[in-house]
Formats: sequence, C-alpha cells, structure tokens
Amino acid sequence: MNAQQLEILLIDDDEDSLLITQGLLAQVHDARYRLQWVGNYEAGLEALRRGGHDACLVDYRLGARDGLELLRQAQSEGCRTPIIMLTGQGEHAIDVQAMKAGAADYLAKEELDAARLERSLRFAIERQQLMARLEALASAEHRSRLELEQAHTELKKTYDELKRAQAQLIRTEKLSALGQLVAGVAHEINNPLAFVNNNMSVLQRDMQAVGEVLALYAKGNAALAEHDSALYQRIQECVEQMDLPYTLANFDQLLVRSISGLKRIQHLIKGLRDFARDAVVPAVQAEVDLNAEIEAALGLVQFKAEARQVVLETDLAPLPPVGCRPGRINQVVVNLAANAVEACAAGGKVIVQSRLGTNGVEIHVLDTGCGIDPSIMSKIFDPFFTTKPQGQGMGLGLSISHGIVAEHGGRFEVASSPGRGAHFVVYLPLTRPSLPELGASTTTTSARTDVDY
Ligand SMILES: Nc1ncnc2c1ncn2[C@@H]1O[C@H](COP(=O)(O)OP(=O)(O)O)[C@@H](O)[C@H]1O
Ligand SMILES: [Mg+2]
Repeated sequence: MNAQQLEILLIDDDEDSLLITQGLLAQVHDARYRLQWVGNYEAGLEALRRGGHDACLVDYRLGARDGLELLRQAQSEGCRTPIIMLTGQGEHAIDVQAMKAGAADYLAKEELDAARLERSLRFAIERQQLMARLEALASAEHRSRLELEQAHTELKKTYDELKRAQAQLIRTEKLSALGQLVAGVAHEINNPLAFVNNNMSVLQRDMQAVGEVLALYAKGNAALAEHDSALYQRIQECVEQMDLPYTLANFDQLLVRSISGLKRIQHLIKGLRDFARDAVVPAVQAEVDLNAEIEAALGLVQFKAEARQVVLETDLAPLPPVGCRPGRINQVVVNLAANAVEACAAGGKVIVQSRLGTNGVEIHVLDTGCGIDPSIMSKIFDPFFTTKPQGQGMGLGLSISHGIVAEHGGRFEVASSPGRGAHFVVYLPLTRPSLPELGASTTTTSARTDVDY
C-alpha cells in the first residue's frame, strides 16, 4: 500500500470505541490513518453518502437500529466505501449475515488488537482498489468493444457505398462508351436517311404526274393499234405482265407505307441521338422550377395515360430553384412516367411527386402497374433492354435517364415487386456539379436543345 494518508470513518454510538480505535491505530507502525467519528445511524449514513473515506468501521449496535441495516442501506444507495462490521460480545452470529450483506470484513471488538485492525483495513482498502481497477478495465473494455462495433458498422456502410458507387461507375462508363458508339452510328445513318426521306416525297409527287401521263398515253391506244400494231401488242403485253392498273393504284400506298417506315427509323435514330447526346454537345444549364418542369413533362404523357385509361396525378411539394439542364430532366420525367403508364392496366394509377430531401430534391414516380421481376431488376437500366413487344419499346428510356441523372450528380432508386407496382426515385442535388455552358443564355423553359448530327 502506498504511504498516503488514509481516511477512516468510525460509526459507533459509544465514545469509548473512538478512544480505543484511535489508540489501536496509533500503535500501527508508520501510522497514516485519520479517523473521523460519528455517533449515530443517520450521521453515519450521511457521512457515507458524502464519501471521501477509504474505509468505514461500523458498530453493530447503533441505538434502535443496527450496523447491518446501515450497511444494506448504504450499499443500496451505491456506496462504494468498504465497510467493516464491529461486533460486541455474543454477537458473533451476525458475522455471516454481515458478509452476505457485503461487508468487507467483521471484527469482534473484544479480540481486536492493532495488528488485526490494520490488516483488516489494509485488505479491505486493497480489495476495494482492486475492484475499482477491475471495473475501470471492464468499462474500458466495454467502451472499446462498442467503438469497435461502431467502427465495424461504419466500415460496412462505407464498403456498401463503395460497392454501389463502383456499380454505378461501371454502368456510367459502359453507357458513355456506348454513347460514343451510338453517336457515330446515328450520325452515319442520319445523313442518308435525310436524303432518302426527301427523295421519297419527291417520288410521291412525281409518280402522281407519271400516272397522269400514262393515263393520257392510254387514250391514244386505238390510234397506236392502227398505225403500229406490233408496238401496241408489245406495250399491252408489258401492261399485263406488270399489271399496270394495279401497280398504279397501289403505288401511292406503297410510298405511304415506305415513308411511314422511314419515320419509324427516324424516330429510332432520334432515340439513339438522345441517348448519345452527352457524348456530343451538352445541353443548357439553368436554375429551374422543377415542379414546372414536371408539369410540362407530364403534359406529354397525359395523352398516353388517357388512351390507356390510366389516372395520372401529381403531388408536388414547394421546392427551391434547382440547378440542372431542364430539357434533360424533363426527358427523365417523361421516360419514367411513360414507363409507369405503360406498366398499368386500364384503371391503374400513376403518381408523380416532388419532395425536398436532406441533400437535394427527389422526384418520385409511383404506379399500380405490373411491377418488376427481381430477375430483371439489374438489367432495366441497360441500353436496349426491354420487356415490351417489338415496335413498342426500344429499351433506351431508363438508360438515357440514368445517364442524365448521373450527369447531374444524382442517383436512382427503384423499389418494386411483381404485381405490386413500381416506385422510382430520382435524387438530384440542388446544384449540379460544374457544367460547360452552351452560349451565354440560360432558360427556364422546357425547350430542348436538340443536336443535329
Ligand atoms: N414502372 C415500371 N413498371 C414495370 N416495369 C418497368 C417500369 N419502368 C421500367 N420497367 C421495365 O424496364 C424496362 C426498360 O425500360 P425502358 O428503358 O424505359 O425501355 P422501354 O420502355 O422501351 O422498354 C421496361 O421494358 C420494363 O420491363
Ligand atoms: Mg420506356
């Protein structure tokens, strides 16, 4: 034990006890005890509550009450001072009870000498110090275990985020590489497509004139038969062979169908150009009222919704201006809402919501449609992935939208299960990461800056 002064509390209603204890402690070699005495139960309890003692000696007899009661009361109040019970003559039986109640030791007064008292105090104090150290160690161990668990949770969260970011990066990379490729192909197709389209219109106009000329020629058939029957015969054979009346009658239909086929190719090319747009020229950025953008976008889907008897609703919360490329975001909303409507049967419902989130704004598109099978969930953002019949879906809507949202520093979330509708969420930061501007003007309309290849 170190040589510091030790504070001992004596609770005993007999003043003689004080003198005896003082005497005994004084006999201890290198005595370093300071004794505080209180003469009754209440004062003793009060002194224990105040604390500051290294050990306490309590007489079993304390007027109407006893030391055991005091011991129990002090311990129930969280007192940590080691308490040694002093017993008088004929009170040996209480030693067991005292130890059970948590006494550090018990000493029979009549057998007490300096050595015994010193040893009992020393052991009690050492044991108490040991206990305190053990408790400190246990609580430090508990703290570090908690810290370790917290660090583990944070590590796991970071790892998951990293994995998500990696998946997003791969997808974005894949899309951007594909975007470059598609931009090239679309450019190549677009040029011949433009002149074939023009030529078809010229052909349509001229064929009408050719038909009229042929009809006029036919009027001279009788004269020709008379003057050059061989030529007339030859012409008639050709007319029959190619079934000229039928051909002429169907020519217009043929051209109309070809022009409509060309329109479809143009539509496809436009989809490809939208998809590849980022690889070519960036669109204009502005501070926009996103709710107005959503309303404008839904105007484009309203017709489709009505035709399919699907209810299209909005639930828009007030939003601060959002730094984005409005045309692009408009396109995302159109794609999501169109998909939602297409997923619904007649009587279905689509709700488009806007919300102010903690880190930006959120666009939610919820529908009561067919839902998405978990087996295709990882593919829906892939270019050209579609579950729609040929001619109805190009499988580009979500991949284009994904590219646009990623370009804005945002992200997608999808929740869906088969038969229970789908919930798409677009998270956008309030300010988009720096963008190269197109010209000086900014716009708050939903006009698109289409790119001509
Ligand atoms: N709201 C939705 N409900 C159910 N399936 C959806 C929904 N949105 C997208 N999908 C699925 O994702 C696929 C890809 O969508 P998208 O890229 O827009 O292409 P497309 O609409 O041309 O098929 C769809 O074919 C469909 O299977
Ligand atoms: Mg779509």
